[in-house]
Amino acid sequence: MRVLGIESSCDETAVAVYDDIDGLLSHRLYSQVAMHRAYGGVVPELASRDHVRRLLPLVREALAAAHSSRESIDGVAYTAGPGLIGALLVGAGFATALGLAWGKPAIGIHHLEGHLLAPLLEPKPPGFPFLALLVSGGHTQLVDVTALGEYRILGETLDDAAGEAFDKTAKLLGLPYPGGAALATLAEGGRSGQFVFPRPMLDRPGLDFSFSGLKTAALVALRDRDLQGPIRADVARGFEEAVVETLAEKCRRALVQTGHRRLVIAGGVGANRRLRERLTAVVLDLNAEVYFPRTEFCTDNGAMIALAGCMRLAAGMRSGLNMSARANWELGAIGV
Ligand code: KG4
Ligand code: ZN
Repeated sequence: MRVLGIESSCDETAVAVYDDIDGLLSHRLYSQVAMHRAYGGVVPELASRDHVRRLLPLVREALAAAHSSRESIDGVAYTAGPGLIGALLVGAGFATALGLAWGKPAIGIHHLEGHLLAPLLEPKPPGFPFLALLVSGGHTQLVDVTALGEYRILGETLDDAAGEAFDKTAKLLGLPYPGGAALATLAEGGRSGQFVFPRPMLDRPGLDFSFSGLKTAALVALRDRDLQGPIRADVARGFEEAVVETLAEKCRRALVQTGHRRLVIAGGVGANRRLRERLTAVVLDLNAEVYFPRTEFCTDNGAMIALAGCMRLAAGMRSGLNMSARANWELGAIGV
């Protein structure tokens, strides 16, 4: 089965072709980051309009690169939510119309299901069941994954997502949006221990997170300081260590609590090098294994949507002409 996947939930237009026998055949992505940077964040209406402009050329490119035509495509998958509703509607409308025109089924995919299945694109994919840590710009969740569509949320953030905390703190440090990766680079030159920020929620049981206090701690640390000196890098380092330590400790607790032997990391913050190192040490200690998507599939991409679509279509699921797009959509409620 060969599936065309379309992702347009936020500020990336991404398209891919995935085949259940030959694997990922092509993927293309256009990032709108430069356009939104002037506003310090994503402007929804501009995002929707740009998806309209980029989608068709990207689909043509991805099909050509995969040496695939409409005849060889068995279905069209699209991100149905959660995300910016206008942006989602562009992808959902396009995919549903394409499916209708080609006489192929269309299927709406939960964006976070795409993220947590992304490690299955790698040469050594994890089997079910596994524990997943979803750390993106909009979500921070620990998920018990028993099978396709069977997701139980074990813990989640009570306020800011981990990526959001990275982006807000990066802004305080004068870094352009979205600043997560730039903050991590700045932290490389920072000294460990110069700033020890709180490890939120580690002092109590449970698997929930809270990150909004950390950016306030960074703000206080930066106040009245000479920002030309090494302090920016030291604060970046202290902030990154606090986030990484918190995420790692909650993962350790969740592995112990569930008895899972496999930990899957997904979402943009999963690209963070220090987080990857720390989690590798945690699983080693517990005699478990950790699975990361390659860096480009940690952040939003079409490959994860094509893969999730392929798995769902192969299991007989369809969205048909009931095109779905939902700005808010709980992962735990999606089912099969
Ligand atoms: O999964 P994603 O592409 O978008 C959402 O679905 O939200 O994640 C984007 C988030 C942004 O907050 C970005 O700053 C963060 O991932 N990010 C990072 C790194 N690379 C991207 N955060 C920390 N370290 C990184 N290396
Ligand atoms: Zn995402």
